[in-house]
Amino acid sequence: MSKPVLGIIGGSGVYDIDGLTNTQWRRVDSPFGQPSDDLLFGELNGQQLVFLPRHGRGHRIPPSELNYRANIDALKRAGVTEIVSVSAVGSLKEELPPGTFVIVDQFIDRTFARTKSFFETGLVAHVSMAHPVCGRLGDIIEQAAKDAGIVAVRGGTYLVMEGPQFSTQAESNLYRQWGCDVIGMTNMPEAKLAREAEMCYATVAMVTDYDCWHPDHDAVTVEQVVKVLLENADRARALVKAIVPQVGGRSGNCAKGCHTALEHAIITHGDK
Ligand code: ADE
Repeated sequence: MSKPVLGIIGGSGVYDIDGLTNTQWRRVDSPFGQPSDDLLFGELNGQQLVFLPRHGRGHRIPPSELNYRANIDALKRAGVTEIVSVSAVGSLKEELPPGTFVIVDQFIDRTFARTKSFFETGLVAHVSMAHPVCGRLGDIIEQAAKDAGIVAVRGGTYLVMEGPQFSTQAESNLYRQWGCDVIGMTNMPEAKLAREAEMCYATVAMVTDYDCWHPDHDAVTVEQVVKVLLENADRARALVKAIVPQVGGRSGNCAKGCHTALEHAIITHGDK
């Protein structure tokens, strides 16, 4: 069995991984089109790692225009088996203030202008999304956070909105009533496509703001998001560093079955 390979998708504010050695930016072609950027291949403490800046270097591509299929497919072609998505989010709960890291375990997908599946006419598949985050990878991130002395909340529901505009206050309050914990613009269809690609996927959501529902806080601005991300960049880097040996040290297939997600999912058959 080959070694697991960690892929990091870095969102706003996470445009590289420090401490990487033997680095090389390499273009990986995909039949689904252009990924957001070349992939950065490197090693961290002897473990292989592949990094993709989600919005491209220089943050050029908005959430609705990302080629999510090409991004996931390129990581798969690069040999990645586990994806950790590092993403800036707004908080929908008082007890998740800016600066909190949340290892989310559920999503509500409110996006509507994105291609969400690798499967198209001719080959129909329905993978399970009941548990959209790989629980084993979530365990790894939780342990890594403990090892690195970083407080991270385990579990939470991430509302994925289309954007690029932030929410109205009515929307923000609606999502709070739904029991959502954090809000962002990118983790869907990423998680769905990773499942279809039979890859483990988990998210470290970094809270940067209280969106626009909180009576004691101003509505979110890009300036605030960037400021809080910069303040927390060192902790994010330390967490990634701590995740690497945990992933590298695992052996065997995913106990949660991420690597066989398609086994009972394809409904198309040969007979007409
Ligand atoms: N990313 C960071 N903060 C956000 C917010 N409040 N809404 C959507 N995406 C975000």
